[in-house]
Amino acid sequence: MGLVTCVAMARLGHEVAGTDTDPEKIAELRDGRAPFFEPGLREYLAEQMASGRLRFGGRARDVVPTAEAVFICVGTPPTAAGDANLAAVERSAIDVARSADEGMVVIEKSTVPAGTAERVKVTLARERPDLEFEVVSNPEFLREGRALRDALEPHRILVGADSPRGLEVMRSVYEPLSKRGIRLIETDIRTAELAKHACNAFLALKISYANALARICEFAEADVEAVVDVMGSDPRIGREFLKAGLGYGGYCFPKDLAAFERFTRKLGYEFPLLAEVARINEEALEATLEKVRDALWNVEGKRVALLGLAYKPGTDDVRFSPGLALARRLVALGAVVVGYDPQAGEGAKADVPDLELAPDAYAAAEAAHCLVVCTEWEEFRSLDLTRLRSAMVYPVVVDGRNLFDPRAMAEEGFTYYPTGRPPLPPDLRGT
Ligand code: UGA
Repeated sequence: MGLVTCVAMARLGHEVAGTDTDPEKIAELRDGRAPFFEPGLREYLAEQMASGRLRFGGRARDVVPTAEAVFICVGTPPTAAGDANLAAVERSAIDVARSADEGMVVIEKSTVPAGTAERVKVTLARERPDLEFEVVSNPEFLREGRALRDALEPHRILVGADSPRGLEVMRSVYEPLSKRGIRLIETDIRTAELAKHACNAFLALKISYANALARICEFAEADVEAVVDVMGSDPRIGREFLKAGLGYGGYCFPKDLAAFERFTRKLGYEFPLLAEVARINEEALEATLEKVRDALWNVEGKRVALLGLAYKPGTDDVRFSPGLALARRLVALGAVVVGYDPQAGEGAKADVPDLELAPDAYAAAEAAHCLVVCTEWEEFRSLDLTRLRSAMVYPVVVDGRNLFDPRAMAEEGFTYYPTGRPPLPPDLRGT
């Protein structure tokens, strides 16, 4: 999010300087190399560095003093109990305060529980009582895999500010976008902080709703894809984020949901719906594993191929990846697990050393007893099914993302396990 914000802000015409506590990242960036994969990032990074609007410095002192606004984009990882760990936010605030020559607007972009900005404000004031800082909240709604598009063409921009000066600076930062008609929602700081958690928790809830429906459809022999189409055609519900599968993952939903639940509990409000969302998410993974076990009878010693290891397509991010969670479970059951991902192979291997990596989908399928679709990368849609099947020992496909067409799978002779839909189209089911 930090790097995407740097590039996007530079593209909007601002002078941007970015820093990070990891010197290796800064060295890579100064060389014009992006430390992770994100569509378009490499090109935009080169473009903005060449324009002279974007540079990187090794320390806060290199980037903070002349800034009018400072974005804090650090991670807020989960603690063992599920709370958001805000140590990096505090450290950043201290770094900013110590490096500043004058007061400026400090923008909290990291996802944090409501009330954090007040802590940031106190920290800044304690460190530098001689300077006047403003703190504003500006939660980010970008999605990995389409981060630049989301940052440059957002559905809306959210700004929480408790002072006219903070609001003024934020309006000017985002003027290039608001001029194009993109709505700037202005609220108080706590509301903005809370709204971000509310959005992520609700999106996770939609996915879990679809995943629970998928289970019900499997028992009722109905088709979840059609059910969510019907639901989604009602504009009050909307079709997005109703895609059933082996569950949501990534660095945002699991941790934000847990942090939001911990936050509400501390306020004295029990919100068990949030825990239920997480439970259904785990159930979706278990259900996928159950299909593998059902297909293979004994998993031990069998070769299971995973297509897709990133937590979703378009990224090399494997944090909280359902595919990797499945890999770990299969390894624990004694399976030989081989995986292929267009971008995330290395990261996956570092996380699950027992995972074998294949150079492509066909190589992954070679001598496999079962193939599981874990991430719906576009390139998997056009795989040659005949070639895939002939590479496998057993023609079994567990489709954790409903990527394939049941009819095509049946015609190709696969034993096919989709998610929440009948494995065969009605005319091939018999009586
Ligand atoms: C999510 C939110 O969508 C962003 O708005 C937010 O800014 C971001 O978290 C964040 O807080 O930083 P992201 O985690 O990048 O973005 O990815 P999503 O596209 O939301 O997908 C999250 C997970 O849900 C993935 O594992 C994806 O496969 C899964 N998913 C998504 C489904 O299983 N079904 C769906 O219908 C949609």
